[in-house]
Amino acid sequence: MSKIAAGHARKRLIAANWKMYKTIAEAERFMEEFLPLIAGQTEAEAVICPPFTCLPAVRQAVRSSQVQLGAQDVFWENQGPYTGEISPAMLLDLDCRYVIIGHSERRHILGETEANINRKLKAATHAGLIPIFCVGETLDQREKELAREIVNQQLAKGLQDLRPDPLAVAYEPVWAIGTGVNATPEDAQEMIGYIRECLARMYDEDWAGKVRILYGGSVKPGNIASFLEQPDIDGALVGGASLVAPDFASIVRFGENA
Ligand code: 13P
Repeated sequence: MSKIAAGHARKRLIAANWKMYKTIAEAERFMEEFLPLIAGQTEAEAVICPPFTCLPAVRQAVRSSQVQLGAQDVFWENQGPYTGEISPAMLLDLDCRYVIIGHSERRHILGETEANINRKLKAATHAGLIPIFCVGETLDQREKELAREIVNQQLAKGLQDLRPDPLAVAYEPVWAIGTGVNATPEDAQEMIGYIRECLARMYDEDWAGKVRILYGGSVKPGNIASFLEQPDIDGALVGGASLVAPDFASIVRFGENA
């Protein structure tokens, strides 16, 4: 275990990123099937990040469970003339506890900038939401051996003048997202250990030791255990496999019945 990671108890965090999938009826059916499958599971904190339109339905479903609600994005002002945007106050109004910020699909498809990611992280943190801050390199950057440099820059720019506590970071190599090609657990550990070092260098070791760092990219019931065995990996951010209730339940149970 890296020196910084040792000595801190970090509860495992398994988050579902449903992306732009599921109607309200589909979300309700998922929750009806999913919740009994994870009943009694207390080792990990499970979070569902549905599309905005499904937040009220999922909020209703998780009311008497340990499952937390999260959003997939947030704007940096609490209200104002920002057509189409959703504010931190609006997410809190729906009992969201977490919010994904800086996902690679927003960076690469929607042109989200580092400056805007920093604004969103600040606004979410100041509102009391827990950010799940996504970083990760593209295949081209990995092949040019730039992965560490890219991730270091993303962390430094995203967390400029900001030390969220609590914070979750998700390391999602872009080439592993939705491709079925996951990073090896050893490669993910190497990058995630490095991310913890970067956080310690930016602020302090005690804080860096408390930050939960997740792996994301083609996580499935059959490979989750191998990631969680790694000393610096504290959980997962799951896309495709989180859309299927038995699969996501198995992941929350660290691969049981896989
Ligand atoms: P997949 O699990 O579908 O590869 O997606 C990962 C992801 O982008 C989670 O945010």
